[in-house]
Amino acid sequence: MFTNLEHLGLAVHDLEAATALYTTLLNQEPYKKEHVASEGVDTVFFRVGGSKIELLAGTTPDSAITRYLSKKGEGIHHVAFEVADIRATMVRLKEQGFTLLNEEPKRGADNKLVCFVHPKSAAGVLVELCQEIV
Ligand code: CO
Repeated sequence: MFTNLEHLGLAVHDLEAATALYTTLLNQEPYKKEHVASEGVDTVFFRVGGSKIELLAGTTPDSAITRYLSKKGEGIHHVAFEVADIRATMVRLKEQGFTLLNEEPKRGADNKLVCFVHPKSAAGVLVELCQEIV
């Protein structure tokens, strides 16, 4: 079951500048900054009601975010949904013909298990499923 639009992931070139911009835009400080070494990204999170904004900058030349930025530039990189049971959701989506980018849930930023659905099977949108690690 999908329970929330958890966050929007925004790819940015300059994390410090984008953090300052969103701090002004949202008129609040981020609640978290986190480096995700496995993905080669630095992240910054803002709360917006029941959802969040995740700013993402690549830290290595071959990280997915660095490659995305060089191809498409800054903008909305992914849409993340909270799900009640990530494994059950992955099985269901696979059965229904969606292409998953990871076979097993992996540890993402902000204390989540995550799985990505390929944009080619989701109308051009990279979809992230996430479930809070308890
Ligand atoms: Co995300």
